[in-house]
Amino acid sequence: PRPVIIDTDPGIDDAMAIAVALASPELDVLALTTVHGNHEVDVTTANALRILDLLERADVPVVAGAGGPIGRPSTPPATFVHGDDALGDVGYPPSTRSAVRDVDAATFIVDTVRARPGEVTLVPIGPLTNLALALEIEPRLAQLVDRVVVMGGAARVPGNITPTAEANIWSDPEAAEVVFGAGWPITMIGLDVTHQVTATTAWIDALTGAGTPAARIVVETAPVYLRFHRDTDGLEGIHCHDAAAVAWMLRPDLFTTEALPVVVSTGDGTDGATVVDGAPRGRPLVDVAVGVDADAVLALLDERLRRAV
Ligand code: BDR
Ligand code: CA
Repeated sequence: PRPVIIDTDPGIDDAMAIAVALASPELDVLALTTVHGNHEVDVTTANALRILDLLERADVPVVAGAGGPIGRPSTPPATFVHGDDALGDVGYPPSTRSAVRDVDAATFIVDTVRARPGEVTLVPIGPLTNLALALEIEPRLAQLVDRVVVMGGAARVPGNITPTAEANIWSDPEAAEVVFGAGWPITMIGLDVTHQVTATTAWIDALTGAGTPAARIVVETAPVYLRFHRDTDGLEGIHCHDAAAVAWMLRPDLFTTEALPVVVSTGDGTDGATVVDGAPRGRPLVDVAVGVDADAVLALLDERLRRAV
């Protein structure tokens, strides 16, 4: 199996992504590293531990990471999307386990990748702070990873947190600019495709009887996220942003990508926009997902959530 580190800010859709990854024999989840984003990092770290408890996968380490972006103040918690506890306010008990804190997430990423050169895939599904910090510690990281699979950005579609920015990139635009400019093999799973991977109320309801912890988490955490969409855009469903990035690793053939230079806007009111036109010469190319067989991805996610992790 492909060794992966999931860098995450759980988050309702992060929980789904983590569950799908752990249920997939193609992937070996080495650790969850945590980051600010959907909530403060102490909350997202606690959520990562709670998710692993619920999935009965306390063997997977959680390594706490950055509490805020590299070059600007933190963005406010997205409680309106993910709930006050960022995990759907279900009332899941706190974990009795602790996160690793003697190394920070960036150092952990560097150490792990150095120990297995060419093997590890990084899967950031939150703001890109930890990856930017890791590149600062070890500039050769770009040559040492197998690939980076980012959930974030919006190439040719509008943003979801501002008219031009997707939330993960907007939460740390300077870090994203470093990551998209680093010249490593990188795939961007952005809103161009994730807005098509929509779990409808019927899809979620159908998981009710599945009987697996993974399905249970999805069903229990969904109502808050469903309410957000119902209230803001009338959608009767939720976008499986983060799980789409995991799905790309399992079935890249279900996506189409274009090799494009991605520059991140860090000013002029369009902060966090991922601009794919007009990049300076020599800018590294990113494999930007522009198309998806959404029904097939949803069928894949459904099948994995019904498996034991
Ligand atoms: C991204 O923002 C977060 O709220 C989600 O967890 C996802 O990673 C979608 O824009
Ligand atoms: Ca996320």
